[in-house]
Amino acid sequence: MHDYHPTKRILVTGGTGFLGSHLCDRLIGLGYDVLCVDNFFTGSKRNVEHLLSHPRFELMRHDVTFPLYVEVDEIYNLACPASPIHYQHDPVQTTKTSVHGAINMLGLAKRLRAKILQASTSEVYGDPNVHPQTEDYWGNVNPIGPRSCYDEGKRCAETLFFDYYRQHKLQIKVARIFNTYGPRMHPSDGRVVSNFIVQALRGEDITIYGEGRQTRSFCYMDDLLDGLVRLMDTGPDFTGPVNLGNPCEFTIRQLAEQVIELTGSSSKLVFQPLPADDPMQRQPNIALARQQLHWEPKVQLGEGLVHTIAYFDKLLSESR
Ligand SMILES: NC(=O)c1ccc[n+]([C@@H]2O[C@H](COP(=O)([O-])OP(=O)(O)OC[C@H]3O[C@@H](n4cnc5c(N)ncnc54)[C@H](O)[C@@H]3O)[C@@H](O)[C@H]2O)c1
Repeated sequence: MHDYHPTKRILVTGGTGFLGSHLCDRLIGLGYDVLCVDNFFTGSKRNVEHLLSHPRFELMRHDVTFPLYVEVDEIYNLACPASPIHYQHDPVQTTKTSVHGAINMLGLAKRLRAKILQASTSEVYGDPNVHPQTEDYWGNVNPIGPRSCYDEGKRCAETLFFDYYRQHKLQIKVARIFNTYGPRMHPSDGRVVSNFIVQALRGEDITIYGEGRQTRSFCYMDDLLDGLVRLMDTGPDFTGPVNLGNPCEFTIRQLAEQVIELTGSSSKLVFQPLPADDPMQRQPNIALARQQLHWEPKVQLGEGLVHTIAYFDKLLSESR
């Protein structure tokens, strides 16, 4: 009789989105079976088109606010619109996606005794009073503002993950993802990197909110995926939450200037008032990820921007 080595089957929710589709690529590349689940709210089939005929890839249209019955060994729960324009479009659905989505995926993990990873966010720190943020900081979040559907939804999802861990002994992993960018970001999602690149490629003015002195740290998607996969592979004692992001800080103005330089654009900078609850500074402390995952970002901003610009350049020229 032949030895039977079943391939590990992995569920990726939000698998046709920006990060989810790259994660599907990565997991297929590692030899796993991948079940990609998405309701196509911000994701698109186009992001996984190249995988559709792959024998180890399966795509399923499903909304995670409804229960899901499938057989898998591991779950990466990424379903949730990530950009303010998208998550504020239907804020009630955003909270439902985070909270009911977490309950449904945790329920599935409990039934299967599967390991489950939550894509949480640096937004759980709100407008932080502590810089850079370590995982033991509890955050400064407005519970009733326009961003709360996302921030509080993600906070509640973390609560659910830890209650399933304590109450049902589930193997959980919580990643707090900081600003990540790269090819397949949505061109009109209003996120700063995609916004600046699209504006520069079209030769339009580049919009900066406030004076552009607020800082952000930008992590390239390849680095982030490395971190997620390493986190999933940690032993049962490590749950996180763990920050994943790039600690190099840039001002928004520096980012705009670098995008203009790399695209060779003639765009000018224009300034608009800061939106509500927009944090002035956001920088991860990644000491825990360094220690537990032996992980740190490797891709420099300039290099990541070159790949991202090439993607948007192609996308815009196809739609012309
Ligand atoms: N990109 C970042 O900088 C960043 C930062 C922090 C956290 N995150 C988290 O990572 C995850 C992926 O983010 P992204 O940048 O790829 O965003 P994205 O909007 O490109 O992807 C989200 C995906 O989830 C799907 N989705 C939304 N609601 C759903 C539902 N109810 N049922 C099924 N699918 C649903 C969307 O269609 C999309 O494919 C999100 O959970 C986000 O909160 C991302």
